[in-house]
Amino acid sequence: MCGIMGYVGPRQAAPLLLDGLQRLEYRGYDSAGVAVANGPISVRKAEGKIDRLAALLQKEMIEGSVGIGHTRWATHGAPSDRNAHPHADSSGKFVVVHNGIIENFAQLRSELGSKGHEFTSDTDTEILAHLIARRYDGDLVSAVRSAVASAEGAYALAAISEHEPDKIVAVRRISPLVVGLGDGETFLASDILAVLHHTRDFLIVEDDEMVVVTEDGATIESISGSEIDRPVMHVDWDIEQAEKSGFDHFMLKEIHEQPSVISETIAGRLDNHNHVRLEGVNLDSTFADELNQICITACGTAYHAGLVGREIFSRLLRIPTSVEYAHEMRYAEPLIASGSLTLAISQSGETADTLAAARLARSQGSRLLALTNVVGSTLSREADDVLYTRAGPEMSVASTKAYMAMLIGQYLLALHIGSAKGVLEEELVERIMRGLHALPADIETIIENDEEIVTAARSIASAEDLYFIGRGLDYAVAMEGSLKLKEISYLHSEAMPAGELKHGTLALITEGTPVIVVITQQSVYEKTISAIQEVKARGGRVIAVAYQDDPIIYELADTVLGIPRSDDLFGPVAAVVPLQLLAYHVARLRGHDIDQPRNLAKSVTVE
Ligand code: M6R
Repeated sequence: MCGIMGYVGPRQAAPLLLDGLQRLEYRGYDSAGVAVANGPISVRKAEGKIDRLAALLQKEMIEGSVGIGHTRWATHGAPSDRNAHPHADSSGKFVVVHNGIIENFAQLRSELGSKGHEFTSDTDTEILAHLIARRYDGDLVSAVRSAVASAEGAYALAAISEHEPDKIVAVRRISPLVVGLGDGETFLASDILAVLHHTRDFLIVEDDEMVVVTEDGATIESISGSEIDRPVMHVDWDIEQAEKSGFDHFMLKEIHEQPSVISETIAGRLDNHNHVRLEGVNLDSTFADELNQICITACGTAYHAGLVGREIFSRLLRIPTSVEYAHEMRYAEPLIASGSLTLAISQSGETADTLAAARLARSQGSRLLALTNVVGSTLSREADDVLYTRAGPEMSVASTKAYMAMLIGQYLLALHIGSAKGVLEEELVERIMRGLHALPADIETIIENDEEIVTAARSIASAEDLYFIGRGLDYAVAMEGSLKLKEISYLHSEAMPAGELKHGTLALITEGTPVIVVITQQSVYEKTISAIQEVKARGGRVIAVAYQDDPIIYELADTVLGIPRSDDLFGPVAAVVPLQLLAYHVARLRGHDIDQPRNLAKSVTVE
């Protein structure tokens, strides 16, 4: 995820910016840069680690005490020197750094292009520098305000200008921004951590607010221009807590980020006319008409996301869809028909098994579509089409927000293929759009009301064995819930389709055995209820993840982890969240290293 750093004060800005960027490194990035105003503005930037930028600055330091810096995590345009921030307009007098996404970037770029603007990068950010320059009429604040009025999306930006070299003007639209108040100097950052060693007094910039930073402090106003009196927040976290934005673990932070990850993954891809636009995916109607088989390949959590994908593609598109463990597929002899699409899912885009299976499918004539979180990863480079999930860097080994973004990516793909193939009724498209848009608020509700989950965690924290069951989409969620629990709590658990229980595993259910049942699918509701009855009859203890307005479940189950009622197509997306939190709380109660569980690595790049 990108990082912003800014400084105005009596000291040299460049070393301070560099230091702040280094403190944001943990968020992940692919390039970094700084711009410092001292009369004209000087920019230094480089792809790769901050050390490369530091080396550039060491060779030729840039003097000046007002500046902005950035670590970039690519969204528009590959990681490279030219796409690294800061970006300037053609005159070099207006320089900008930016986090997030300008959704109407293509439209703005072509409008500016038709007015003679020339661009030197592939980024959406550069558009902002040009817009600000174009709107500048002697007042940087008004120019930024006017530029922002044209730029749709979720972002934060900071701008400096040679014309007004005593200030930084910044705007927050969803992506975080804070101001650090020093003694005769002021800092701007996307994360408190970047400046916590300079000051503990902060102004938090809220959504749709603008801030003007000078060495005397900062003034905040709304985007429309009304003044805001923001109280100073004194922070007493330690540095380690600050890295996690105050959360005790990255995993918990990432679970909490899921509502915004969903919004980011959708941003700019769905319009008001029910159209989906997926940059990097070009499955046109000629291909879609011929498409007769989808094969999903992945490992671990990404495989579980694929289980959801299988249901979505088969149900919505009526295309036979299989999901294969990549490590199995690479040594099998997959039957790949012409007119097939292989969807390789991988958070990192570097998992050795997934790469091997994807290459095999492609060598046999399948089109390869990558669904990945990392721009420029090996998988993304080798695929014919790429859909990026925009979850931001995931630090915890146990994947949560990346899984969530993979699910959302697959709903978007279903819409894309369905519309190219012409098989989705308008009503169904509207239903999917509604479902997607409702998810962030539903998940927020689950996260905010986790008391029942904590109680359930206490009740299973010393269990010997646990079982997870569900049917259809709920089975996919049961698989993921079980894996999360195993990874970080080290408890033995198994997941299976609810109907499979009676074919053997029921023999293991005795007095008090915890069985976690996911039950959101109305089409198989009665069948799952029967499985619950079977468990109860053997003395098993049922913890159900179910809609919170379902009285039958409250009657039957020992514990219910309620989720807001939703369309059945989306119930399982929200249903995974209580299971992520359950795993987290159990692991915590057992005193484990949650973010770095034993024996596991974040990215499995060996076979
Ligand atoms: O980077 P990938 O998505 O390809 O990784 C695949 C698995 O190794 C990964 O999902 C693993 O199962 C996670 N640790 C699960 O939380």
